[in-house]
Amino acid sequence: TKKGRVFSGARPTGRQHLGNYLGAIQNYVALQKEYDCIYCIVDVHALTTLETTRDIKNNTYEMALDWLAAGIDPRESIVFIQSHVPQVMELFTILSMVTPLGKLTDLPTFKEKVRMQPNNVNLGLVGYPVLMTADIVLYKADLVPVGIDQASHVEFARETVRSFNFRYNTSVLKEPDIKLTEVPKVIGTDGQQKMSKSLNNHIELALTPEETEKVVMTMVTDPARKRRSDPGNPDVCNVFSMHKVFSSPEEVAMINLECRRAGIGCVDCKKLFAKNLNAHLAPFRERRAALAQNPDDILDVLRDGERRARVIAEQTMAEVRDAIGL
Ligand code: ADP
Ligand code: NA
Repeated sequence: TKKGRVFSGARPTGRQHLGNYLGAIQNYVALQKEYDCIYCIVDVHALTTLETTRDIKNNTYEMALDWLAAGIDPRESIVFIQSHVPQVMELFTILSMVTPLGKLTDLPTFKEKVRMQPNNVNLGLVGYPVLMTADIVLYKADLVPVGIDQASHVEFARETVRSFNFRYNTSVLKEPDIKLTEVPKVIGTDGQQKMSKSLNNHIELALTPEETEKVVMTMVTDPARKRRSDPGNPDVCNVFSMHKVFSSPEEVAMINLECRRAGIGCVDCKKLFAKNLNAHLAPFRERRAALAQNPDDILDVLRDGERRARVIAEQTMAEVRDAIGL
């Protein structure tokens, strides 16, 4: 028997990269042992920032493929698409009535979004944390795993639950606990910024070994090391950070030593990383290729997830409507 229910959502960003993998997916997979997990591809959230929805279906499919290949097990966990269970939109509307607007516009995450898209500050953008709250409480999650940057949104969800329950003198909505996950900030191939698709500094999991090596060879190393004969500093090198994750302790120790005395060059160091990364991802890639043989099976998984999510959602909404007196 499990410790409780976990909910987490991610926008449909298509093929996942090493940042997604180390920062989120690995944790999703691990949580399945101890919790009943619901993993949601939040396509409605994506509408707040997308300029076009052209790729949304394909991105959802590719992301689901990566999740399943990485070990999210649809027999254990519920994997589904947010918009397939429209009760979340109903709950969003209801929760928006107990949400002071000023609280939303004061959130640092909102201010950041306004900076990013000043010409498209739509109501959905302001209400993003309310929709996230609706996701969490519709499925009565006990626990929401988030990085520190999203913690304020779960705190917001807790406050919203308290406001709702107080206003309608009920206890139907459950206050979720925050599970602060130690999310490593994976740096991109530029060696500076957070790995991200939009910055095009990412390494996709689903690349071929050859493509992987090609991208890895573009990685920026210690900028002060100009020539092969210069000693390098692994402490400021993103390739070394990657070795710490994907290479053996012996290899890490060897690079740490040899880089500093110019015993190993950046080219060989990156080749070794590419080799180890490819070895690590080989089983994932095999599973992914097998799953991709039958795209309908992926859609079936998402439909089955929808069915199971709907049961919970309908139950919650019946209780919510009843509590309000609708
Ligand atoms: P979302 O907007 O839904 O969070 P992202 O694609 O930005 O979508 O991220 C999906 C998940 O992957 C999030 O949990 C995020 O924290 C994690 N993630 C994305 N990029 C990185 C990165 N460079 N380092 C660590 N974690 C990352
Ligand atoms: Na993000």
